[in-house]
Amino acid sequence: MIETVDLRRAFGGLVALDGVTVRVAEGERRAIIGPNGAGKTTLFNILTGELRPTSGRVRLAGEDVTGRRPHELARRGLARMYQRNELFDPLPARDNVALGVGAARGPYRPFTRPPAADVAAADALLEQVGLGDRVRVPARELSHGERRQLELALALARRPRVLLLDEPTAGMSPAETARITSLIASLERTLTIVVVEHDMDVVFRLAERVTVLHEGRVIADGTPAAVRADSQVNEVYLGKVVA
Ligand SMILES: Nc1ncnc2c1ncn2[C@@H]1O[C@H](COP(=O)(O)OP(=O)(O)OP(=O)(O)O)[C@@H](O)[C@H]1O
Ligand SMILES: [Mg+2]
Repeated sequence: MIETVDLRRAFGGLVALDGVTVRVAEGERRAIIGPNGAGKTTLFNILTGELRPTSGRVRLAGEDVTGRRPHELARRGLARMYQRNELFDPLPARDNVALGVGAARGPYRPFTRPPAADVAAADALLEQVGLGDRVRVPARELSHGERRQLELALALARRPRVLLLDEPTAGMSPAETARITSLIASLERTLTIVVVEHDMDVVFRLAERVTVLHEGRVIADGTPAAVRADSQVNEVYLGKVVA
């Protein structure tokens, strides 16, 4: 479903990605882990078309999409939950999602009320992410964890084939983390999910395969058990984050 071939991205003299080749199968749950600055978000930015690679290729469902714009990739089924918030703060949770449902269908029309069908779809998505009783609450009044749930609903509003999640549990309480992790685990099996995450309990709960990035390179790629046992991975990363 997703394939990168020898992806390289430099920012001036800094090489953020250095020959990254990754393949994610349809319906797979993949985690990408690695220390701060390893290149995880840069990889996501390239996959979504927000950044162009310096060299290398990106394929989505077999089609070469290297250098395509974000809206073209979104139309091909790619959705993302950001490391930071992307919500309309003054609007109720319901309208945030209803606008997302509408945007998935066509160009965004400002200053119009979302159609009733979009509101109904939004309510169903909010129910799915556990915000069924918060639909009228403005996004800015939601807790941090609830905002992340709302962002997940917004990503799902696009009816994606591929979902990219950048640190979905960052800043969450243990209860919120458990909740969003189960939610992600319960998404339909046809959806391909790639998650960047620092919480190893979450990684080992969600992922079937784990890719480890370090200084822009893939240093390990395999089952959670194999990655956990890898001595280089333990040296550069896991040894520092797992007690
Ligand atoms: N737009 C940019 N301009 C310049 N340098 C950048 C830019 N984006 C990322 N970098 C650099 O590229 C490297 C990789 O950054 P990236 O954000 O991909 O890391 P990350 O693995 O997501 O880290 P974290 O776990 O902290 O989120 C870092 O050294 C970062 O400073
Ligand atoms: Mg990042």
